[in-house]
Amino acid sequence: MEASNTPLDSLNRPLRDLRISVTDQCNFRCAYCMPKEIFGPDYSFLNNKEILTNDEIFLLASCFAKLGIEKIRLTGGEPLLRRDLVPLIRRLGSIESIKDISLTTNATLLPRYAKPLKEAGLSRINISLDGLANDSFRRMNGGRGNVETVLAGIDAAKKADLNLKVNMVVQKGINETEVLPMVRYFRERQITLRFIEYMDVGNSNQWKLDEVFSAKEILDTIGQEFDFEPIDPNYKGEVAARYRYTDTPAEFGLINSITKPFCRDCNRARLSADGKLFTCLFATVGHDLKSVLRNGASDNDMVELISNIWLRRKDRYSEERSSFTEPKEKVEMSYIGG
Ligand code: GTP
Ligand code: 5AD
Ligand code: SF4
Ligand code: SF4
Repeated sequence: MEASNTPLDSLNRPLRDLRISVTDQCNFRCAYCMPKEIFGPDYSFLNNKEILTNDEIFLLASCFAKLGIEKIRLTGGEPLLRRDLVPLIRRLGSIESIKDISLTTNATLLPRYAKPLKEAGLSRINISLDGLANDSFRRMNGGRGNVETVLAGIDAAKKADLNLKVNMVVQKGINETEVLPMVRYFRERQITLRFIEYMDVGNSNQWKLDEVFSAKEILDTIGQEFDFEPIDPNYKGEVAARYRYTDTPAEFGLINSITKPFCRDCNRARLSADGKLFTCLFATVGHDLKSVLRNGASDNDMVELISNIWLRRKDRYSEERSSFTEPKEKVEMSYIGG
């Protein structure tokens, strides 16, 4: 059931899922997201004054909640780099209608934070990991950290009783040899692994179609060793197509933005760390909610503004991508959140 006050956009899609980026900084430099050459020492990240405070995030999230949002995902950059993330989660959890708070992280800081995050009310964590061999892992993330720390983060999250999924971006010629080792490892531990097709998000990654390891190629690779079958989505608009292995309860998923776009049911709004509202991951511009908030807008004004933005929404970038002739100026994923 949709909440009666949930706005429907011009393609009849409700506003259901709010993703809040809490920082544009990250301790990794994945080439598909924050390539070192661009996100180097001279890159100008958001400054403290530009970034929303916890009070402001709470106020905005409360307005979204009035429009029927029940689910919030915190993203970045790397969200665990934000110092006051744990108290933020506690505050968001105090909004009555918010039933599910989740986090997308590279897990390097999870050994330290898993328990306090759980105690603050976090229910789910999606962890990014692109390979089990340190050389592939580092080739993907710009030479930072090591696999052991991420695996320790995964263990800490399990121990803290957080629901957990692992996301792997697969880039042709770089880490497709990691697909089967990752399947074996996470299948045995009954952890859902989801493969993400390399996407043309932002402009800095110099995306090329022939670097996409497609959903079909992923399924063919897994099929060399395991039998599986498709299963129904957990909820309408779920990003990943789900599969289960036939001989064990474990499952895996495919996020096929390139070869099988899923805009039709897209109900996601994204709030950047500096308070801009984006209605598509591939947007060019956002709506500046922070200025409106800092100019003293009432809750009602803000709710109306958000609702009107959503009512006008007609984004479906992934479905239209092949028809674009001119390169599009897009926001970076590290800024808008995944
Ligand atoms: P849950 O189902 O609640 O666990 O969330 P989720 O699967 O949406 O979360 P997650 O952040 O793990 O999403 C996985 C990845 O899918 C993201 O990091 C993006 O790479 C991609 N993704 C998520 N939402 C969208 C979307 O709206 N459009 C596109 N093209 N890709 C998306
Ligand atoms: N294509 C696909 N996935 C991406 N991510 C970041 N950039 C891209 C891209 N260009 C994924 C990360 C992580 C999540 C935050 O988004 O791997 O799982
Ligand atoms: Fe950081 Fe995640 Fe982007 Fe990698 S994909 S640079 S871990 S925000
Ligand atoms: Fe939603 Fe835009 Fe992704 Fe399509 S491309 S699923 S509209 S965020």
